[in-house]
Amino acid sequence: MRVLSGIQPTGRFHWGNYFGAIRQYISLQDNEQAFYFIADLHALTTIRDAEQLRALTRDAALDLLALGLDPEQATLFRQSDVPEVTELTWLLMTVTNLSWLEKCHAYKDKRARGVASDAGLFTYPVLMASDILIYDSDIVPVGVDQVQHIEVTRDIAERFNATYGEVFVLPEARVMESTSKVPGTDGEKMSKSYGNVIELFEPPKRIRKKVMSIKTDSTPVEDPKDPDSCSVFDLYKLFADATEQQAMADRYRAGGLGYGDAKQALFELAQEHFAEAAARREEMAADESRLESILMAGAERARTKAAEVLNRAKRACGLSAVV
Ligand code: TRP
Repeated sequence: MRVLSGIQPTGRFHWGNYFGAIRQYISLQDNEQAFYFIADLHALTTIRDAEQLRALTRDAALDLLALGLDPEQATLFRQSDVPEVTELTWLLMTVTNLSWLEKCHAYKDKRARGVASDAGLFTYPVLMASDILIYDSDIVPVGVDQVQHIEVTRDIAERFNATYGEVFVLPEARVMESTSKVPGTDGEKMSKSYGNVIELFEPPKRIRKKVMSIKTDSTPVEDPKDPDSCSVFDLYKLFADATEQQAMADRYRAGGLGYGDAKQALFELAQEHFAEAAARREEMAADESRLESILMAGAERARTKAAEVLNRAKRACGLSAVV
């Protein structure tokens, strides 16, 4: 089974990204043939600063490797290092109904808000279909917000297959239900667009400051508190084992625990949880050429497969194919 997913490098990864997606990607690498890429071509639809895009792409790769993505097990690469993908996008574009793209959220939402959109944003789902189809992907782990794009991918693949013969494997979305809630500092879902995130690898001082700023109610220190309606406890649960969770819940209910203490406990547990990854990240960040060679080796593996599928598609529709 080929598992494939792409991550846009539009911001530094935060706790929500980790518990919502990255952790699952890493756990899939052991049993499946996993392909993961940094979607820098997609990021061009939002980031228009070369230095920033380069830095975020590099940071994304470093974060994934530091967190345990093993480049021997999984294939990790930059989307733009596989030019076959953009070539296949054109072929797919010619069998894509405009109506399929018009109903896609990203574009529709911008339009509804009166924001000017470009052809890149409009055709974004076709590039994504190409990402998926070019590796004969079977399973695509994604968040709920991307399920619509997988449906469009299937529509495109079916249409191409019906027109030219069986060329593409029909992929399936595997929706990553976030197993648990990851609230941001304001209690809403942790998301870059809400400005409430705690990044994975910020300096500890900044992380502590953000943890201390998590919104809580104003129950006095001595009063009993309800752990189940507290963002600090929701976050604590992500890092704690069952015994630690129970002990903290008891302290909440007993009274005498201030939110400041709960936050300090959360901060310390989170630091401990990511300590090894942070050390590994620092070590890898110091060796630019090692990162580059990991990404180039990944791209080479990805390109071998991509070239095979692209040729299959070109041959099927009457273009000259290399083999
Ligand atoms: N659009 C996806 C997102 O924003 C990223 C992405 C690009 C992707 N290509 C993909 C995800 C292919 C899965 C498969 O999250």
